[in-house]
Amino acid sequence: MIRFLTAGESHGPGLTGVIEGLPAGLELSSEWLSRDMARRKMGYGRGGRMAIETDAVRFVSGVRKGRTLGGPVTVWIENRDFKNWEGIMGAETGPAGEDVPQREVFVPRPGHADLVGGVKYGHRDLRNVLERASARETATRVALGAIARAYLALFGVTVLSVVRSIGSVSWSGPTEAQWSDPETLRQQTLASEVFCPDAPKGGEMVEEIRAAKKAGDTLGGVFEVRALGLPVGLGSYVQWDQRLDGRLAQALLSIQAIKGVEFGLGFEAARLPGSKVHDPILPGGEGGPLRPSNGSGGLEGGVTNGLPLVVRAAMKPIATLYTPLPSVDVRTGETAPATVERSDICAVPAASVVGEAMVCLILAQAFSEKVGGDSVEEVRAHFEESERLARERTRWGGGR
Ligand SMILES: Cc1cc2nc3c(=O)[nH]c(=O)nc-3n(C[C@H](O)[C@H](O)[C@H](O)COP(=O)(O)O)c2cc1C
Repeated sequence: MIRFLTAGESHGPGLTGVIEGLPAGLELSSEWLSRDMARRKMGYGRGGRMAIETDAVRFVSGVRKGRTLGGPVTVWIENRDFKNWEGIMGAETGPAGEDVPQREVFVPRPGHADLVGGVKYGHRDLRNVLERASARETATRVALGAIARAYLALFGVTVLSVVRSIGSVSWSGPTEAQWSDPETLRQQTLASEVFCPDAPKGGEMVEEIRAAKKAGDTLGGVFEVRALGLPVGLGSYVQWDQRLDGRLAQALLSIQAIKGVEFGLGFEAARLPGSKVHDPILPGGEGGPLRPSNGSGGLEGGVTNGLPLVVRAAMKPIATLYTPLPSVDVRTGETAPATVERSDICAVPAASVVGEAMVCLILAQAFSEKVGGDSVEEVRAHFEESERLARERTRWGGGR
């Protein structure tokens, strides 16, 4: 089974990610990973930090001459900003930090983990909380997600995303025809400063962010991730923690600032009658049953049904405000304006890349459970057999 962990602080020496359970022989290149890493740094409304970091990924275990060995794969991303923080964030106590202002944080920022983390772990200096709670951690998720994406390519699966809304500006999303040409859609999305392939709407979103910045405010929004080319049968209805919708939702909600997740018609389904929500099953032909609609978003009973996975995530506005909200100084109990750390105004485009990464990782896990194997050859053989059986089982009237 594929599993993964991340480690590291925002201004520490760097970020580490470990992913285990990949088959041996999977082709990987750090250059390939860097494409997703570069996309995470983009988007109109980001703060100054992204200009400092290169986010180059180095493999430090599990890969030899461009192929996985079967053991844990470890990635390392250097925090270039660490050179400005060594005396503050270094692991050792000693002379290095003695004469450096320690940049402690004593006024928790509403909407961040600062207050709850301080109480939970007993930290008076809330920097000990925010350094790990920060979304800088998502750089590691994107690196691991790109590795999962390489694994998914073995099965012909493509994962991509678009931004659907920022603040009050929203659009209906790409047409089905646009989604069915992922390469073109990807290029159109990348050409937009806010990852919205509809150029006029993208322009409105940029304006909205500009106005929020001027007002000392921040914005959130919604992004949509789709996975194309999925087989029937990933995930299961047999146990609550095996339902793929639940696992995807947890993974997306675990991204900093994501507060809602919906599949297919999503919350809209609750307002419609059943006849307008569920996807009829038509006999189809050699290729198995036909589904003329996809209100379910590609999942029925927590199991993939062969249609595209359609999932949207809602991001709250960035919690660090340059016109800070009231808070309390934990040293004195007196009211004080919340601490301001260098911050984004809007990070929905970046979050969409993190969302893709989390979807890739969960789908990779689900594939490894269904068609696992120790080597790429074995995985391919298991997948072919699984697909053959699925075709046989939808040859109507054949009996069992
Ligand atoms: C890609 C990305 C970038 C983010 N950048 C910032 C930021 O610059 N400033 C900030 O206050 N919050 C930022 N956030 C959100 C916070 O990390 C998040 O709101 C905070 O850790 C509290 O977690 P919660 O909102 O999930 O409760 C970002 C989130 C993501 C996904």
